[in-house]
Amino acid sequence: MSYLFKPLELEKLRLTNRLVMPPMATAKSEENGKVSQAILDYYKEKSEGGHISLIIIEHSFIMPEGKASNNQMSIADDSLIKELKSLAEVIQSNGSKAIMQINHAGSGTTKEVIKTTPVAPSAVTNPRRGSIPRELSRNEIQDVINAFRNAALRVKKSGFDGVEIHSAHGYLLNQFFSPLTNKRTDEYGGDIYNRIKIHLEVIRAIREAVGEDFPILLRLGASDFIEGGTTIEDSKIAVKEFEKAGVDILDISGGFCGYNVPHLTGQGYFAPLTEAIKKVINIPVILTGGIIEAEVAERLLVEEKADLIGVGRAIFNNSNWAKNAHESLG
Ligand SMILES: Cc1cc2nc3c(=O)[nH]c(=O)nc-3n(C[C@H](O)[C@H](O)[C@H](O)COP(=O)(O)O)c2cc1C
Repeated sequence: MSYLFKPLELEKLRLTNRLVMPPMATAKSEENGKVSQAILDYYKEKSEGGHISLIIIEHSFIMPEGKASNNQMSIADDSLIKELKSLAEVIQSNGSKAIMQINHAGSGTTKEVIKTTPVAPSAVTNPRRGSIPRELSRNEIQDVINAFRNAALRVKKSGFDGVEIHSAHGYLLNQFFSPLTNKRTDEYGGDIYNRIKIHLEVIRAIREAVGEDFPILLRLGASDFIEGGTTIEDSKIAVKEFEKAGVDILDISGGFCGYNVPHLTGQGYFAPLTEAIKKVINIPVILTGGIIEAEVAERLLVEEKADLIGVGRAIFNNSNWAKNAHESLG
């Protein structure tokens, strides 16, 4: 049996294989962020056959100020739970586990989308956006933590198998993590431990709300690949703290560089990051980025670069990708 299609049995989550569909925004939600028929159809098609063990659905906003773009999915209030239940069921009835990614965009949005000035750790320009955000007060940071907590509870009530906290691609938690955007002088800024204080508070608040048995994933932009930004050395410290605080699976991607790195090409371009991270923690690590061939996914696992492999655009472009991989690798 191939490594890619070997089960991974975790205490809280039984995965039939190592293949993950990473979160990819479809912009197919209704205007208010509600799950639409188009979303149900999309995830039904992607999960068909059950060859992907873990499907992490696209980022949803935890509060209106944290919305990233138009027609983004929402997890910001209880009225959304009914349709979200249908979405979880569609994926699970095909045999995959369903995880929901929750996000606050911070300064990674625009005034046009949220109808007010975007917020951030500090009033400095987001390297991925042009305008200057407003600095969050300490009370507002507590509101954000509560919103993450409430959103995670809704994910659980909607019947999903777990929740993923988004701290990559230049969104709010990434903005706290990175010295490029976090210039705070209070306990939420400064050294790496202060820059992950909000993450640890979010993880602990979620854990308290969802209980011990519900899986918590965290997607970390593990390096900005920008002068003065975060490096793998920051991430090696951060992931140990995340594990201690209760994260069950770490999902690795880029920071302010996004999910691509201009000077890094090839399949599995974040492998040096996941390899280094795997050495300092005991929880499983997901590697995503550039992988288009099943044989390469297999090799990355054999070489112990990661425990799980995310295949995004290749599955987006071809809903039979996983079925074909299963047939070719067995
Ligand atoms: C259209 C699109 C939307 C995406 N939306 C998200 C998202 O909502 N959350 C997230 O963490 N990553 C998002 N990503 C990044 C993917 O999860 C993945 O990391 C990236 O596509 C690289 O993997 P790939 O080369 O296998 O596609 C998105 C990528 C694409 C192409």
